[in-house]
Amino acid sequence: MSEVIFEKSVPGRRGVTFPTAGLSDQSINALLPPSFQRQSALTLPEISENDLIRHYTKLSNQNYGVDTGFYPLGSCTMKYNPKIHEEVARYEGFAGIHPLQPAETVQGALKLLYELQHFLVEISGMDQVSLQQAAGAQGELVGMLIIRAYHRTQGKLGRARTKVIIPDSAHGTNPASAALAGFTIQTVRTDSDGTIDKDDLAKVLDQNTAAIMLTNPNTLGLFEKGIGEIARRVHDAGALLYLDGANLNALLGLTRPGDMGFDIVHFNLHKTFSTPHGGGGPGAGPVGVKQALAPFLPFPLIERRATAQGDRFQFEKNRKTAVGRVHSFYGNFGILLRAYTYIRRLGAEGLLDISRNTILNANYLKKQLEADYAIPYGARPCMHEFVVSAKQFKSQGVHAWDIAKRLMDYGFYPPTINFPLIVEEALMIEAPESESKETLDRFAKAMHAICGEIKEDPEKVIQAPHTCVIKRVDETLAARQLNVRYQ
Ligand SMILES: Cc1ncc(COP(=O)(O)O)c(C=O)c1O
Repeated sequence: MSEVIFEKSVPGRRGVTFPTAGLSDQSINALLPPSFQRQSALTLPEISENDLIRHYTKLSNQNYGVDTGFYPLGSCTMKYNPKIHEEVARYEGFAGIHPLQPAETVQGALKLLYELQHFLVEISGMDQVSLQQAAGAQGELVGMLIIRAYHRTQGKLGRARTKVIIPDSAHGTNPASAALAGFTIQTVRTDSDGTIDKDDLAKVLDQNTAAIMLTNPNTLGLFEKGIGEIARRVHDAGALLYLDGANLNALLGLTRPGDMGFDIVHFNLHKTFSTPHGGGGPGAGPVGVKQALAPFLPFPLIERRATAQGDRFQFEKNRKTAVGRVHSFYGNFGILLRAYTYIRRLGAEGLLDISRNTILNANYLKKQLEADYAIPYGARPCMHEFVVSAKQFKSQGVHAWDIAKRLMDYGFYPPTINFPLIVEEALMIEAPESESKETLDRFAKAMHAICGEIKEDPEKVIQAPHTCVIKRVDETLAARQLNVRYQ
């Protein structure tokens, strides 16, 4: 294990020389209120610039990201982030502005946000979009709050709509968001073909249902074929249809949530529209709605006003029906800017190519793995991802996470494991459009080799990774007793 920077500290060593303030510690203290005065010496690492650079360069070389290699982390759409995004985000006119500047002085930034709202309306088939939300999960929460606010305007019957129906294949944030918004959760089963069990849906859908929250394509990577029929039934029951749009990468230009009958959708710009994500960094989860729900969108949206001098862009005036403001200022502007750049560079045809190619990639890879791995619900072609099961290897003591760890020895990031919950020993593999055939072939070869290893020497897989700096870690302990502070 590498030393942390504090362990490299040598008393008195300096990486930078500060100009002297010309004041003693006592006279500086005299200028500060007591609560601001330092009570004890700071324990900062003392290190030369050279050693500092080497330390962090070494750490960065040990890291793995989309710029290092294939990152088939299912449901996360870890695609290539074009470097022009970073260049544009650093333009002085964007990076140098302040959110408290008068709207008149930031017309370009406001126009960009206005146009992004419009692009997302077009892409999704919704009527209005709010850009504020900082992540998919926050988009879900806002969506649920909007649904609650809408039903409350529908009188006594509307207020009785207290439950949200969610498939058993759903991402964990779905029930969490609905519960946080005050709804009870009703699970609906998945059929043997991997889509919603329509009979089970008929049983649970009633006058207390506020909404059904779906992911399409779902977390098995399958398109919900009966979506038109589901939308009709949900609307007939007086409920609303919410799309978890995390998997939009499979739909761009092919079909639109609004046309499928969804009333509300959140986007994960940090997935579909290729902005950097991971490690809890900033994301963007805009929410799109049909007109009837627009009054409840978070406040403020960006408006365009025609004037004699041309278009002016501004924040709308207070809207009392809004569910509130959910982020300071405009949301994560830098991420919105990157997504805007991505959409503008690709255009409508380019976006369509994305979905066509990710579907092609995923099906190509799925076909290659079929001989070695069970693919439950795998009879139909998949969309942008698919889920294999490692259940057959349990008798050799090998689990999905062992295969995931062994893949790191072959130079790949592990797929998502143990999700969706309806697949035992699940390995969820996404193959974004930005991956080449050669990369997919290398990955398939590694998966094939691991299958052979399990038969011949399962311990090799169980003990993996062997070549990484950090070997097998206790992930449960790390999650439950997170301690990232150097004492
Ligand atoms: C299907 C699905 N829904 C929702 C989310 C939540 O999105 P976020 O991580 O941006 O909060 C994810 C994230 O992985 C997801 O895969």
